[in-house]
Amino acid sequence: MTTQSATPTLSALGQRARLPAVARLMKSALENPNLLSVAAGFTDNSTLPLAEFVAAAQSLAARAGEPEYLQYGTAQGRPELRRMLAARLQYWEPTLPTENMESRFMITNGSQQSLYIAVQSLCNPGDLVLVDRPSYFAFLDVVTGLGARCISLPYDDQGRLHEADLEQFLTTLKLSGDFARVKAVYLVSYFSNPAGRSLEEGDKAMLGRLLTKHDLVVPLLEDVAYRELFYDEPHPSRSALTLPEWAAFPQLYIATLTKPFSTGAKVGYAYCTDEKWLTQMLAIKGTHDFGTSNYGQALFEEVIRNGGFENHVPKVRRGYKAKMLALHEALVAGGLLELGWTWDVPKGGMYLWLCAPGNLNTGMDGEFCQACVDEGVLYVPGDLCFGDKPETNWIRASYGVLSPAQLRVAGERFARVAQRFAR
Ligand SMILES: Cc1ncc(COP(=O)(O)O)c(C=O)c1O
Repeated sequence: MTTQSATPTLSALGQRARLPAVARLMKSALENPNLLSVAAGFTDNSTLPLAEFVAAAQSLAARAGEPEYLQYGTAQGRPELRRMLAARLQYWEPTLPTENMESRFMITNGSQQSLYIAVQSLCNPGDLVLVDRPSYFAFLDVVTGLGARCISLPYDDQGRLHEADLEQFLTTLKLSGDFARVKAVYLVSYFSNPAGRSLEEGDKAMLGRLLTKHDLVVPLLEDVAYRELFYDEPHPSRSALTLPEWAAFPQLYIATLTKPFSTGAKVGYAYCTDEKWLTQMLAIKGTHDFGTSNYGQALFEEVIRNGGFENHVPKVRRGYKAKMLALHEALVAGGLLELGWTWDVPKGGMYLWLCAPGNLNTGMDGEFCQACVDEGVLYVPGDLCFGDKPETNWIRASYGVLSPAQLRVAGERFARVAQRFAR
């Protein structure tokens, strides 16, 4: 006899939790093996660093002494890996103070965990976070899942910030009564998800200056997930960590070893400028998991020590550049420019951010999106990528996982639908 169990009464957080909208799309992708998905931000299987991980595992196994890496570690992460990551950050930001730098790091289960912990440590329900426009939708989900809200900074269509717009934005925010509820600023400042753009150093500096002028010195979360994934050269902007205009702000520089190297190994890290805030975030992380996989971290130590990381990342960069071009060229060949579609050709990252002509609705429940699924191509509807006032004529297309040949077919299918809807 089966007994009916009682329905649990969920907390406010439990009730607010939603399967991300994109998960519905992924489900349809899995149900239809012929569907080519440019939706998920998965990485490229053909450039995953198998040889580097095999070598690292063998080298760990051959080490004398007890296999301490198979034991629990600490919430903060392995000191040696933190020292190595400090050296990497020093390479990107040579003017950062070096003393005891590794003590400012937190190693996480991918950078997504840093984002969650950061918001959890800063926001109460009803609080606000200022975000890019567009922004990374899985971050927007974190904020709304915790009962807070996002407000978009006033970017123009080219991803630039202008002093007059920012002045007006901050003045309006002040008058709205929401000002005191702003608890953080979140920027994806290099080859962003979804727009593939990088924030110019002058704009970043101006933002810090105006926030200070308007007494909004709140923590900055600078997400640099794609900083290493440039195609020909790194973006020249310095991080806010070393810009004088941001010196007074508590900052969390959030990075990952997943996107440029191995998503499956799921190791990320963050560097925090504020000791007290870091201590609290580590306490939260402790309650999440006691610490990121010690073995996974030890493997990364080997990979970095043996030069595997440095040697491999250029291959990954070349792979994404080729794939970006495959999709871009298929869309151009399919006549999208003539139909009035526009997009930038990114200089790094994993995404094309396409703007549809006119008022074409590319949103998840629109006919265009369904027609694409019927044609066999799945994308992320751009309306999911806005912290507020969503626009329904954008599309995020990831060229992370499909091969160049598959991307060409996906581009052709997409263009066929776009041609039909133009008539
Ligand atoms: C902008 C951005 N930040 C953070 C993440 C989280 O990645 P991970 O947890 O693999 O480091 C992603 C993943 O797509 C991303 O696009």
